[in-house]
Amino acid sequence: MTALLDVKDLQRHFEGVRAVDGVSFQVQPHEVVSIIGPNGSGKTTTLNLVTGTIPSHGGTIALDGTRIDHAKTVDIAEHGIARTFQNGRVFATLSVADNIEVGIHSQLRAHRPFRRLSHVFLLRWIPLLAELFVAIFGTPAARRERGEIDAVVDLEVDRFEARLGPRRNDPAYTLSYANRRRTEIARALALQPKLLVLDEPTAGMNQSETAEVLAQLLELKAAGQAILLVEHKLDLVMTVSDRVIVMDGGRIIASGDPESVRNDPAVIEAYLGRRREAPGSLSEDERSETETKRGDLADSAEEGSA
Ligand SMILES: Nc1ncnc2c1ncn2[C@@H]1O[C@H](COP(=O)(O)OP(=O)(O)O)[C@@H](O)[C@H]1O
Ligand SMILES: [Mg+2]
Repeated sequence: MTALLDVKDLQRHFEGVRAVDGVSFQVQPHEVVSIIGPNGSGKTTTLNLVTGTIPSHGGTIALDGTRIDHAKTVDIAEHGIARTFQNGRVFATLSVADNIEVGIHSQLRAHRPFRRLSHVFLLRWIPLLAELFVAIFGTPAARRERGEIDAVVDLEVDRFEARLGPRRNDPAYTLSYANRRRTEIARALALQPKLLVLDEPTAGMNQSETAEVLAQLLELKAAGQAILLVEHKLDLVMTVSDRVIVMDGGRIIASGDPESVRNDPAVIEAYLGRRREAPGSLSEDERSETETKRGDLADSAEEGSA
């Protein structure tokens, strides 16, 4: 069976820092894989490489057997990878519905005639003019597609009905933080991606909001959605994941099913062994954040062994 995502020996450095240092892993169709690890271990960089947000310095990435490691972000999205960002990214002045619609812009056919030419520098004006023409005068195909777009947006708003339903036409800047993150997830899902990539989807959410996201992730998983997840809340990770990958210092130090990873000495060391670092190497904020994570892991480990 071809892996859905096949990452081999991925490399990325930043001014001498080996952020991602020979990372290899796979995600199978319908599989939920989580990447965990201390702050700065290379999790976000790995997601950025997989989604083409930044270029790699080595290694290969294949989606469904097709190499995507030199593809543009929009082409990768079209191949079937959609993502959300660690800090949450929505267009503040656009409504919830329009934010979701942005997600499917790359898939539009009738609204974007000759879009293939946009890759040809000298002919880029042709698709732009054609798109403008369709926007002004409309075509039967564009009207049909308009209906399809509205249906997709409705479907995604419905997914978060209680939260986003009443706010469908509100600009994103009026939304709560949690609703902005929901909008971002809805936008990614509107692409109907083969692989959904989420970077800390519950960051900044309280316990009940986190539980809600967990329920939604489990629903997506039951529907067969493949997910690559970076998340600090280990209870959520352990509940939703088929497999967990642990990173430290840009490398994978352990991987396996949630139970075996939770009890892996190398993992416990990565989370608990940080104290030996030189004083001052962590800021106060990072220190307290790491403390929380230590607590998380210790709690989960206790639950696991109880
Ligand atoms: N754009 C960047 N410029 C310089 N250094 C970066 C950049 N992005 C990440 N890094 C560094 O790469 C390492 C991994 O970061 P990151 O992937 O964000 O970790 P994580 O998501 O696991 O917390 C860190 O040392 C970080 O400082
Ligand atoms: Mg990160």
